[in-house]
Amino acid sequence: MSQLFQRKPIAELVQETEGAHALKRELGAGDLIMLAIGAVIGAGIFSSIGTAAAGQVLPDGTVVRYGAGPALILSFALLGVVCAFAALCYAELASMIPQAGSAYAYSYATLGELVAWIIGWDLILEYAVGNVAVAIAWSGYFVSLLSGIGVTFPEWTVHGYREVLLSSDPRISGLMQSAPHLGAVPILVNIPAFVIVALITWLLVLGVRESARANNIMVAIKLAVLALFVIVGAQHIDTNNYHPFAPNGFRGIHQGAAIVFFAYIGFDAISTAAEETKNPQRNMPLGIMGGLAICTLIYVVVGAVATGLVPYRQLLANDPLAQAFNVAGLTRFSWIISLGAVVSMSAVLLVFQYGQPRIFYAMARDGLLPPWAAKVHDTYRTPHITTMLTGVFVALWALIGDAGETYDLTNIGTLFAFVLVCIGVIVLRRTDPGRHRPFRVPFVWVVGLLGAASCIFVMRGLPTQAWVRFGVWLLAGLVLYFSYGYRHSRLRSVL
Ligand code: ALA
Repeated sequence: MSQLFQRKPIAELVQETEGAHALKRELGAGDLIMLAIGAVIGAGIFSSIGTAAAGQVLPDGTVVRYGAGPALILSFALLGVVCAFAALCYAELASMIPQAGSAYAYSYATLGELVAWIIGWDLILEYAVGNVAVAIAWSGYFVSLLSGIGVTFPEWTVHGYREVLLSSDPRISGLMQSAPHLGAVPILVNIPAFVIVALITWLLVLGVRESARANNIMVAIKLAVLALFVIVGAQHIDTNNYHPFAPNGFRGIHQGAAIVFFAYIGFDAISTAAEETKNPQRNMPLGIMGGLAICTLIYVVVGAVATGLVPYRQLLANDPLAQAFNVAGLTRFSWIISLGAVVSMSAVLLVFQYGQPRIFYAMARDGLLPPWAAKVHDTYRTPHITTMLTGVFVALWALIGDAGETYDLTNIGTLFAFVLVCIGVIVLRRTDPGRHRPFRVPFVWVVGLLGAASCIFVMRGLPTQAWVRFGVWLLAGLVLYFSYGYRHSRLRSVL
């Protein structure tokens, strides 16, 4: 039993980042803030904001969740505080254990191997499954952007099978019959979602420098587009739209927060780049906290403008921000918003496709996954095998998947990882108090416990189905651990 909770010495973690298998160190604090903004601002603010404000009701009248209405800005502010607690904890661990693998590596050092495995497995929900949702949302905006200039695709090439199966919109569900068939099976594939993931995977195999540069350009564009949304939109706010402010009271604010949490996922992703960061002891905390502060501010302002422009129910669309402009009569700007959404989501895809392989890489290096997953490319010095593996997994799921189905699963998995990181930081203060901590969480007991409790609180705003799926996912992970990782763990083989 005690072997299951065997902890990895931190000195060994730090040592692993040097030597022949090392990744190249070339990112600075500015690059990290750009990576964080690149990861954070995407499908959440451009797409899930609509459901968060308006809520979700099934065709038979069942309420899946209550919307926040204009009080959405309170959901954003609440999440900003919750994520700040978690961000502080991530920053302490990331600066102290500057290793690829993020929460996985931290929990290996603090809570032991079994918990580390659970976290590593859980992070697949945040990174890879999250990117399935982003890729599908990307495809939706891309298709509408092109249709604006007269380029259209056959419908069966832009809607995946699951999306059509679950849709209550007759124009989409009708594709089940009208799509071409292979025998009895309708061919329903989201080709743009597949192609964007393939392209980004290729960029990442070539190396981090090229990717970081591309990311910087995309971040600049997305900030400019959101600035345009706020500046133009603010001049057309109708204050009547702010009444009622919180149509579903605190329940709406809470459940709205549980969906739009997706918009905050990502600031922690940059901790996976610790091994490729110059002076991580200083740059990691700066990158994580700086990125989070900037994004929270942007969300509150964008949320206030969006709910002021149109009655909040009208935000229920695939492209809520462009829709808000259309409804407010600002159609000549809405294509720019769509373009911004496409660019933003490309940046998100890039950062998550970057993070996932590095978690697999760290797990393989520890023997919890097969050794071929820990190979680094001779020329590019990137973990090319896991990068391609992640690309295939995400691209194939996005080809036939449904975005909505994956949002909740991603949120619950990520919040769970946050909880363990908040607890881990406290545990490590007790088990290893003397170790040098370049960044220390102030009032660690208060911040750590409040962080864990508030993440659990946000999780409770998610529908029951998300909890069930999450449980199944964790069980599958445990089966895999006991049939492979438990036997091949490098740490326990030397005991
Ligand atoms: N926060 C990221 C997004 O909203 C995942 O797309």
